[in-house]
Amino acid sequence: MMIDQAKVSLLDYKTPGSFEETRYEKLHNVIVGSSVEGSTAIAHCIANLILQKQKKNQHCILGLATGSSPLSVYRELVRLHKQDGLSFNNVITFNLDEYYPIQKKDVQSYFNFMHKNLFDLVDIKSENINIPNGNVKAEELRDSCIAYERKIKELGGIDLQILGIGRTGHIGFNEPGSHLNSQTRTITLDHLTRFDAISTFQGIENVPRKAVTMGIQSILSAKKIILMAWGTNKSEIIQKAVEGQISDKIPTTYLQYHKNTTLILDEQAASELTRIKTPWLVGSCDWKDAISSKAIIWLCEKKNKSILKLTDEDYNQNGMSDLLALNGSSYDINIQMFNRLQHSITGWPGGKPNSDDNHRPERKSPDKKRVIIFSPHPDDDVISMGGTFDRLVSQGHEVHISYQTSGNIAVSDQEALKYLEVNSDLNKENPNPEIESLKKLLKNSYPEKPASRDICNLKGSIRKGESFGATRYFGIPDNQVHFMNLPFYETGTIAKNPISDKDIIKTMELIELIKPHQIYAAGDLADPHGTHRVCLDIVFESLKRLKSKSFMKDCWVWLYRGAWHEWEIHEIEMAVPMSPDQVLRKRNAIFYHQSQKDGVMFQGNDHREFWIRAEERNADTAKKYKSLGMADYAAMEAFKRYFY
Ligand code: F6R
Repeated sequence: MMIDQAKVSLLDYKTPGSFEETRYEKLHNVIVGSSVEGSTAIAHCIANLILQKQKKNQHCILGLATGSSPLSVYRELVRLHKQDGLSFNNVITFNLDEYYPIQKKDVQSYFNFMHKNLFDLVDIKSENINIPNGNVKAEELRDSCIAYERKIKELGGIDLQILGIGRTGHIGFNEPGSHLNSQTRTITLDHLTRFDAISTFQGIENVPRKAVTMGIQSILSAKKIILMAWGTNKSEIIQKAVEGQISDKIPTTYLQYHKNTTLILDEQAASELTRIKTPWLVGSCDWKDAISSKAIIWLCEKKNKSILKLTDEDYNQNGMSDLLALNGSSYDINIQMFNRLQHSITGWPGGKPNSDDNHRPERKSPDKKRVIIFSPHPDDDVISMGGTFDRLVSQGHEVHISYQTSGNIAVSDQEALKYLEVNSDLNKENPNPEIESLKKLLKNSYPEKPASRDICNLKGSIRKGESFGATRYFGIPDNQVHFMNLPFYETGTIAKNPISDKDIIKTMELIELIKPHQIYAAGDLADPHGTHRVCLDIVFESLKRLKSKSFMKDCWVWLYRGAWHEWEIHEIEMAVPMSPDQVLRKRNAIFYHQSQKDGVMFQGNDHREFWIRAEERNADTAKKYKSLGMADYAAMEAFKRYFY
């Protein structure tokens, strides 16, 4: 069995705060390049422990978590079992929590989650699986919790506890207010926790209000603890947990008492830590362009000054004296930074013909460029870069739109029914049997079951019609609109298939067909179901495979954001301003996506409708540029160049 010891030792505990850069930190943490890398390391650590215990003929007692975070850990464990023969016959597991009340057979139960993602796929003995019971009578609940706790103790305690972290700072379901000495018990879930479970339960009203959870003390009794956190959504709570004082307001901070806890974070989850966000406040810094831009913009915000007003004193008093020494004076640094930002602004996203392009984000030639805008769902193009899209078309470029997925799961049954009912109404005399049976299917569909192919096609077709509304409004011929329906997405459920060669080949074929000078893709990685991340990975892999083709030498790639979050000012390499009228045109284009307006199915953590998010983000970028000393625009869309 191949255990990668380098991965295992990545998770070895080190005293937090003992290195210069961890000065503010009270929990040991390791930052990895991606959640997959981190998950594989955790799986190898678990496998290593199982094997060590097997050698000693001992049980290996694992504390396990559910939720989105550990999914790839379980996937890797299953792979290690199937391909490398890792056996789970000495493993005893205790799950952290379970909703209450819930039946084991319910799709949303953690019982079901664990069996589907791990237990049914490995050789663990069923009698060695322990999950808090979400289905006991209220009067038996207390005894059932006490028995759970006792069983852990009788077996000698948990060897390795795996944890995720909720945005309230909960571990297990120990919500804010939980006591250090708490043990397995029932708890009322916080609103935010229930909100985060909406997509699993298809509506907040279906999310249970209570849960049974192991307590803080039960967790802290484990011999080793690994907490994982992936993605931007976790960055704020991770910063508080790692750098904050121990407090019941953020139960994760209790882990600071435990002397063998390691947090493993991807770059997004770690992004609010002081050593990542403002490294100049922690120690000496390697002042490359990117980091100095970040620091100067941070300094402007902190001092509430525009760039050209920053003084030597401002730099010296805020951990940036090295930067000052390197550049001579604040006057020089300020001018450089001012120009860098000024040069990112352009009303010519496809390049300005016949003009000096030395200080413009895009090349002037060719005058007329072929452009592909990759849009993960059929509406990200207009939400995130509708203004730029409009300009590219009006400036004469050949713009192609590639809708990567059908977006079918985000159309509600009621919305789909509306279209069928219109059809029935028009054909009252001669009802179409296919339409009538689809209507029945929709009326009897269950959120927990995958939607049938016919329903997926119907919903996909609704989104297709809406997309044409928007692309025609911007003046794009229909044959420049490409619906890729990438196969990874077509499961009829929220959970998607892994990327396959089919997704990549379809994408490569389109790029080869168009031979674009510009590609725009969504670099917006905070969407709730990870579809944007997958779509971006597919584009990146396709670019990698096509790189040697001669036409690729002329192909520049720009990443946009907007639907879920926006680039930070220091990251922006092209900022396209919009007039108030252009803002309205963008809004109109977004409105064509009627099925995603008002009560959308997958809202994420942001309560604003998509058009409002887009307008507020674009106005905010313009406001920030203005406050740094740039011209005063109504709105701006932002892009970062990707070098492949
Ligand atoms: C699940 C659990 C919770 C989750 C946390 C994060 O068993 O105990 O603490 O780990 O809510 O959930 P995800 O991973 O879905 O973000």
